Amino acid sequence: MEKIIELKNVTKRFGGITALNRASLHVNKGEVVGLIGDNGAGKSTLIKTLVGVYGPDEGEIAIRGKKVFNWTALKARESGIETVFQDRALCPQQSIVWNIFMGKELRYPFGFVREKEQVKEANRLIREIGFTSKLIDAESPVGNLSGGERQGVAIARAIYNNAELIILDEPTNALSLNETQKVFEFVNNVKKSNRSVLFIGHNIYHVYDISDRFVILDRGEVVHQLNKEEIQSPEELMKLMRDTIKKH
Ligand SMILES: Nc1ncnc2c1ncn2[C@@H]1O[C@H](COP(=O)(O)OP(=O)(O)OP(=O)(O)O)[C@@H](O)[C@H]1O
Ligand SMILES: [Mg+2]
Repeated sequence: MEKIIELKNVTKRFGGITALNRASLHVNKGEVVGLIGDNGAGKSTLIKTLVGVYGPDEGEIAIRGKKVFNWTALKARESGIETVFQDRALCPQQSIVWNIFMGKELRYPFGFVREKEQVKEANRLIREIGFTSKLIDAESPVGNLSGGERQGVAIARAIYNNAELIILDEPTNALSLNETQKVFEFVNNVKKSNRSVLFIGHNIYHVYDISDRFVILDRGEVVHQLNKEEIQSPEELMKLMRDTIKKH
């Protein structure tokens, strides 16, 4: 199985704090990996290291099996890794198509935006990831969309940017049950297209439902890596997490 990305024994310190301690993690092509851990466990630090925002103090990063050097956010994006942060990156007063193409518009040689093509492509993208409502199309304003649908627009944009791995940071926080279901549908469609997802969440039930594999972080260390078959229920996953926390 092809590993899209791999972190090997990565350590990251902030002054006296060791936010990541020899953490290793990989994401295979076409799989959804759930990353869980308590507040301060190091989830955000791990993601930021993965996408080149932080350089690791120790350890290696490999992309499709090849070790990378001087890893940067730009290189991560060029390698097909996109991060979707909650809501923040979208412009609600603009349309879906505007938000998908933002900064990367299709243009004629003399500079004008190829609007019709963009609308067509945006409609194709949002249908592909699972927008089914006839009331929503590429030209609908993002401000009219629900929280889950906004996540969908951000995911569509990541796909337009040729993402092979989409990192979702707490995508279901503050979403209703229906909205969460919508995000799951989007994630499942991303998976069907043989792309990968790294799903970060506090809600163990959400992470359990959507993931093929789980990585549990605790105080900067990866304490468990488990396949879905090894865990019978979200309660069991929760218990595993609690037990590791208790050990300290
Ligand atoms: N830029 C920073 N400077 C100093 N310390 C930091 C920085 N970023 C994170 N830390 C520390 O590193 C540890 C891990 O933090 P991190 O934000 O990665 O955890 P997290 O698992 O994302 O937590 P949460 O669930 O609350 O988002 C914490 O002790 C945190 O205080
Ligand atoms: Mg965090």
